[in-house]
Amino acid sequence: MNRGEALDSIRANVENENLVKHMLATEAIMRALARRFGEDEVEWGLTGLLHDIDVELTDGDMSSHSRLGADLARELGASEAMAHAILAHNERHGIALETKLDRALFCTDPLTGLIVAAALVRPDKKLAGLEVDSIKKRYKEKSFAAGASREQMARCVDIGLELDEFIGLGLEAMQGIAAKLGL
Ligand SMILES: [Fe+2]
Repeated sequence: MNRGEALDSIRANVENENLVKHMLATEAIMRALARRFGEDEVEWGLTGLLHDIDVELTDGDMSSHSRLGADLARELGASEAMAHAILAHNERHGIALETKLDRALFCTDPLTGLIVAAALVRPDKKLAGLEVDSIKKRYKEKSFAAGASREQMARCVDIGLELDEFIGLGLEAMQGIAAKLGL
């Protein structure tokens, strides 16, 4: 599978632009993490890009979310490692995070939402001037972007990153595609 095919499939299965942006942001961060760890940037990026492809198809049914996504990814030619990361990112299935790819996707998923929310409360609503410290302040405010699980983000330590570095890497990756994110 190449990136164009993955995007075509996303376009065929996802209408919500914010969901597409979430997947693009996850892709960007996953690529940056792969670079950081000397892992396969294409594999990690595509895993991030595709991870929520089934959200509209499963329509809030968390017991099927990510099972269908993993199947769709496999049909597109994803490796078992990619499909497993997609499957395991939904905690509901109780599937253990086994690989670094699994763990990276798991902690990255909620980070995009926190960073978007932190950008949107700025006067310019842009990522460009956003700093790690202000995201960290928001991280500590439990009611801010409450859907972005702090517990899940904190698992970045499982891939060997302190929270500061993880947030910084995520911010920089998202800043790199700010125009695509509309931020
Ligand atoms: Fe997600």
